[in-house]
Amino acid sequence: MNGPRTALLLLATLAAGCARTSSPGGADRPVPADRVLDFATLYGQNCAGCHGADGQFGPAPPLNDPLFLALVPDTDLAMIIAEGRPETPMPAFSRDAGGTLTDDQVQALADGLKARWKAERPAAPTPAYSAAEGHGDRARGQRVFDRACATCHGKDGLGGDGKVGPIHEPAFLALISDQALRRFVITGRRDLKMPNFAGKEGRPSDFQPLTSEDVADVVALLADWRRTSGTGRPDSQRTH
Ligand code: HEC
Ligand code: HEC
Repeated sequence: MNGPRTALLLLATLAAGCARTSSPGGADRPVPADRVLDFATLYGQNCAGCHGADGQFGPAPPLNDPLFLALVPDTDLAMIIAEGRPETPMPAFSRDAGGTLTDDQVQALADGLKARWKAERPAAPTPAYSAAEGHGDRARGQRVFDRACATCHGKDGLGGDGKVGPIHEPAFLALISDQALRRFVITGRRDLKMPNFAGKEGRPSDFQPLTSEDVADVVALLADWRRTSGTGRPDSQRTH
């Protein structure tokens, strides 16, 4: 688990520099860098280092995930790419926000994600991608954690049998938004074998799919761990 997280920190540090070196627009280039609208090229140059070459197995949340793609609204996608996620390693890419990409390129990436990879919903009613602000309850979240998470992540998220990493960890929680936590609880990480909100793998046999409220509650618990774990930052800007 330390591997991917260390990699993410490193990539976050390098991100600004990397983006710049890819746009010199030399004479041998058939298309100037700011005219490139090909998804694979844009994705490979700007996103693959963190999100993975094929949209999975990277240190950042997988984008090649059928449930994520089914849930995330198109307008959110374009906005996240343009503006980034403040206080996380996800950089802003639009020029207005200090990035290197034109509005057309941001849109080509947003459209391309859903065209390139397949969106698919499970049969069970699915929690909403984002939650209305501030509705989770920490105490209820503890009960959700005990039945839906602790078998793998250990009691209070401090690490289990050694196969799955701890998530009650200041360095990890300080870098991730509540929205990304919410998304992981809903989609799981198929690439790393974490079950989604309805998955029964590694859970009690009477486990029922998590509701939108269950997800908000468990996120409130993790946000509280962030607050009380010492190095966390204030929560004010973390909801988007
Ligand atoms: C330096 C690493 C880095 C780079 C480069 C990067 N991302 Fe991200 N991205 C992240 C991280 C980390 C998150 C999760 C942030 C959080 O905690 O909310 C994220 C989140 C996202 C999300 C939201 C995912 C979700 O689960 O809601 C989208 C969409 C996204 N990135 C798209 C892109 C695209 C497209 C590119 C390339 C143009 C890109 N990212 C480049 C690190 C990166
Ligand atoms: C069947 C085992 C299992 C269960 C149950 C489970 N997880 Fe995970 N989770 C994993 C694995 C495997 C990973 C991949 C990273 C690792 O090995 O630590 C992971 C990763 C994560 C991550 C970090 C994602 C990243 O990219 O670093 C978060 C956050 C997380 N889990 C939260 C939860 C929460 C909250 C629950 C309960 C709602 C839960 N998990 C239930 C196995 C599980």
